[in-house]
Amino acid sequence: MIIKDFLPDPYLVKKKEGKSLWKAPSNIALIKYWGKKQNQIPANPSLSLTLNSSATTTMVDYRRLGKNGTDFAFDLFFEGRPMESFRPKIETFFKRIEAYLPFLRQYHFKIETSNSFPHSSGIASSASGMAALSLCLMDLERELNPEMEPTFFKKKASFLARLGSGSACRSIEGDLILWGESPDFPESTDLHAIKYPFKVHGVFKNYQDTILLVQKGKKEVSSTVGHDLMHHHPFADRRFVQAHNNLSKLRPILADGDLAGFIQIVESEALTLHAMMMTGSPYFMLMKPNTLEIINKIWEFRRATKTPICFTLDAGANVHVLYPEDGKESVMQFIKDELVAYCENGQYICDQIGFGARKLMVEK
Ligand code: DP6
Repeated sequence: MIIKDFLPDPYLVKKKEGKSLWKAPSNIALIKYWGKKQNQIPANPSLSLTLNSSATTTMVDYRRLGKNGTDFAFDLFFEGRPMESFRPKIETFFKRIEAYLPFLRQYHFKIETSNSFPHSSGIASSASGMAALSLCLMDLERELNPEMEPTFFKKKASFLARLGSGSACRSIEGDLILWGESPDFPESTDLHAIKYPFKVHGVFKNYQDTILLVQKGKKEVSSTVGHDLMHHHPFADRRFVQAHNNLSKLRPILADGDLAGFIQIVESEALTLHAMMMTGSPYFMLMKPNTLEIINKIWEFRRATKTPICFTLDAGANVHVLYPEDGKESVMQFIKDELVAYCENGQYICDQIGFGARKLMVEK
């Protein structure tokens, strides 16, 4: 699909006002997106698990203006309060997507958003947030063009979300999502995410993700800075090749339910992401002592009990503990007994693989 396909034909319908409400999940990458080209094009493909409970809910209330505004007209509320600090991010997003949603300057938008996860938990809300906002905007576009196909709706929502935050394009659908062109995956594209198209073994069904909040609060390194580090990084090219190879290697692993193979690739991806940060210029260390304590405990537990539990990390200190559903009871006991002590204020989030964003009913 080329970008031209996301430019709308003249709209058939006029819409004065309306509301749209969507809940979009967060996602956790197994194969990491780290490094990008212009226009939010990823330097390598990534594969993620869509989460179920960690989500952003966004309501957009739109009203048509008398004449086109020169600036974008919107008000922002986060968890009920005006949130001016989000404004620049939304401005940039609107600028990037304006060509694809030419109605943006014709409306005033009231954007109200809230997260299911605790405020400042260190969980990035940009993926779920940009996905939810894109879906609300697509709802308006569908009002203006009622003939829109449902598959196109999702594809374009992912395409728009990508322009807000790369990983957001993987938060429209579930449960395993692929973003970025890869020769092994014929439908894959850099422009939007797709559902993982090949066989996935039952053991990955209802896969669990317990998120250990080692360090809450704002990320020390924004993903924009992090991605930029890959531009002159001495190991960048090798890393991009490695991500392609890991994705290809995962295919039979996912099909056969090879948990040992899965663990090896997923943990290596997480550590490589952090290794890229540690070997960049400037360099960063985002893992905390408690991150390492947890990783070592996970390895010990795995060795001792043969439980197929593993970890992944995003660009921060928190640890995602991944494991099949049938081991849930004993793993949760292990987490409570041995790992929670390393979490800030003992906080963790129980999540699992999810099936994508949902449109909610707007209360009258
Ligand atoms: C480490 O999607 O947050 O979580 O496109 O600049 O918004 P931007 O970056 P972002 O980067 C996510 C990086 C990651 C890995 C991943 O989710 O694939």
